[in-house]
Amino acid sequence: MNLLPSGICFYISVAICWFTSRVDTSWWYMGTLGSQVMCDNVPGLVNKQRQLCRQHPKMMQAIGSGIRDWIAECQYQFRNHRWNCSTMERDHTVFGKVLLRSSREAAFVYAISSAGVVHTITRACSQGDLESCSCDPEKKGTSRDARGPFAWGGCSDNVDYALRFSQTFIDAKDRRERDARALMNLHNNRAGRKAVKRFMNLECKCHGVSGSCTVRTCWLAMADFRHTGEFLRRKYNGAVQVVMNQYGTGFSRAYRKFKRPTKNDLVYFENSPDYCVRDPDTGSLGTGGRVCNRTSRGMDSCEVMCCGRGYDTSRVGRTTKCECKFHWCCAVRCRDCHEVVDVHTCKGQDSSTWRGQV
Ligand SMILES: *[C@@H]1O[C@H](CO)[C@@H](O)[C@H](O)[C@H]1NC(C)=O
Ligand SMILES: *[C@@H]1O[C@H](CO)[C@@H](O)[C@H](O)[C@H]1NC(C)=O
Repeated sequence: MNLLPSGICFYISVAICWFTSRVDTSWWYMGTLGSQVMCDNVPGLVNKQRQLCRQHPKMMQAIGSGIRDWIAECQYQFRNHRWNCSTMERDHTVFGKVLLRSSREAAFVYAISSAGVVHTITRACSQGDLESCSCDPEKKGTSRDARGPFAWGGCSDNVDYALRFSQTFIDAKDRRERDARALMNLHNNRAGRKAVKRFMNLECKCHGVSGSCTVRTCWLAMADFRHTGEFLRRKYNGAVQVVMNQYGTGFSRAYRKFKRPTKNDLVYFENSPDYCVRDPDTGSLGTGGRVCNRTSRGMDSCEVMCCGRGYDTSRVGRTTKCECKFHWCCAVRCRDCHEVVDVHTCKGQDSSTWRGQV
């Protein structure tokens, strides 16, 4: 048995844990406060974060407006899922109660939010938006391609600065806590940060007579955030369920069927609810009214999405661009085509099917 400040785990053949729910406000709320981040108005910041917030107002503005981007990526990755990364308006937990549970979904959101901050800060540094950083002229190396070896050393995206800052800022909260959930968050935050660094590419510009490329400037550039989103989505699929080790210092896998988690893996403690029905206790919104795909066999199939409750079909007309022709030179002209398509939406729960069939 293992007693932790705000989580209790029992080992009976498998580990069963209870976590006292804490109000999970965090820096995520900064995104809803508009461009002007007022450090004292973000309820979830701990002292250290408030201090950094006051010292780096431009950085905070960048992080705040970047929040929209990683939430959009989260929603894109989960658009076909019962849980779709939706946010609650004017709710300082941002994602609602769902993430209070130490689930796979919580693991993903912590990872992609940290990754998002690294991406945002790196881009802001390279664009010269921040006083405390710029692109990184120190990065140098040699590479080779079909034309032979070449040296490079242009101004690279400064991902290391962003990694350090986001770690200091984001981890500040969970570093104070040191309970099981805090260790889980810290682990997934780091996995997210590392995921951005994985997608740095060498980009080159050719110079020389008529693009002969005898001279070139190359630099390390971050790939589109979609790559990070997709990578973390795969990590979500392969996330490892863990228990605290007996010293409370790290994790071991909860079941032998899982592999041992590495620093790149997402980890979680608790199984997810099925997210089928609206449930104020877990924060699940349910899938009533969600669009499903009748021919798919995946998570977005009507069978899976609607949890066996069935679906309604409606015909809707829509306008698309069609018969696009290229006109010399240089325009593409299209016609507007009208088509009628069937849209299927999941039935909501009613008292007769509520829970009983799930
Ligand atoms: C996510 O699901 C909820 C409820 O199931 C729905 O209200 C919302 O529109 C969905 N959001 C997106 C981005 O699809
Ligand atoms: C539905 O799923 C099928 C099979 O996966 C796919 O080909 C089709 O594009 C999907 N339709 C929509 C509207 O997403």
